[in-house]
Amino acid sequence: MTTLLEARRLDAGYDAMAVVHGLDLVVEEGEIVVLLGANGAGKTTTLLTLAGDLPLIGGEVLFDGRPAPRSLHARARRGLRFITEERSVLMSLSVADNLRLAHRDFEPCLELFPELRPLLDRKAGLLSGGEQQILTLARAVVGHGRLLLADELSLGLAPLVVQRLLSAVRAAADRGMGVLLVEQQARLALGIADRGYVLRQGELMLAGPADELRADMARIESSYLSAVL
Ligand SMILES: Nc1ncnc2c1ncn2[C@@H]1O[C@H](COP(=O)(O)OP(=O)(O)O)[C@@H](O)[C@H]1O
Ligand SMILES: [Mg+2]
Repeated sequence: MTTLLEARRLDAGYDAMAVVHGLDLVVEEGEIVVLLGANGAGKTTTLLTLAGDLPLIGGEVLFDGRPAPRSLHARARRGLRFITEERSVLMSLSVADNLRLAHRDFEPCLELFPELRPLLDRKAGLLSGGEQQILTLARAVVGHGRLLLADELSLGLAPLVVQRLLSAVRAAADRGMGVLLVEQQARLALGIADRGYVLRQGELMLAGPADELRADMARIESSYLSAVL
């Protein structure tokens, strides 16, 4: 198996103040890894740093076993796709134009996400939240992407839509993409994931295969409740 992403002893944070300490994390080709933890545990900070959006405070980030290029842009050229917590579609453009910005020929997006076909002429700002996230995923998982980082893809969406998004992520991984997924819906995410890490106040609390973590949900959820916010 090919290791796409490796963080070694990662310290991540803001203005040289680390809020994530000494994190070791690996994502292989074709697997979904979930990053769990209470609000404020450091999940978004970790993703921003792995994406190259925040400067590294300590440790190393490797892509394909080599030091990752510094900028988000250079990492994107190496196949990184990053879905941030904010909705990232261009609201004033049509669905077709949103797809076209990412893929000159967007037919493959429609093959994977046929529900977008009847919406092509609609402005993205007029889509439902779920449709916007499907559009976001279509842009990210089609084409030359190799590694997907996704932050709270399913936030605020109805259960059926969440299932649709997660199954599309699983399908992308089955085609070979490596995925690091931050999800509030821990049980659902562990249902489609291969492995997971649990952060607590910026420290790794637990890591393991998804089925082991699922069996340990009570402990994970109680760590959420006892987290100091
Ligand atoms: N822009 C920022 N500047 C300083 N501290 C921040 C900033 N964003 C988040 N933090 C702090 O970093 C910690 C981790 O936050 P975050 O990574 O957003 O957590 P999560 O995504 O797990 O909810 C929190 O204590 C939060 O207050
Ligand atoms: Mg967050």
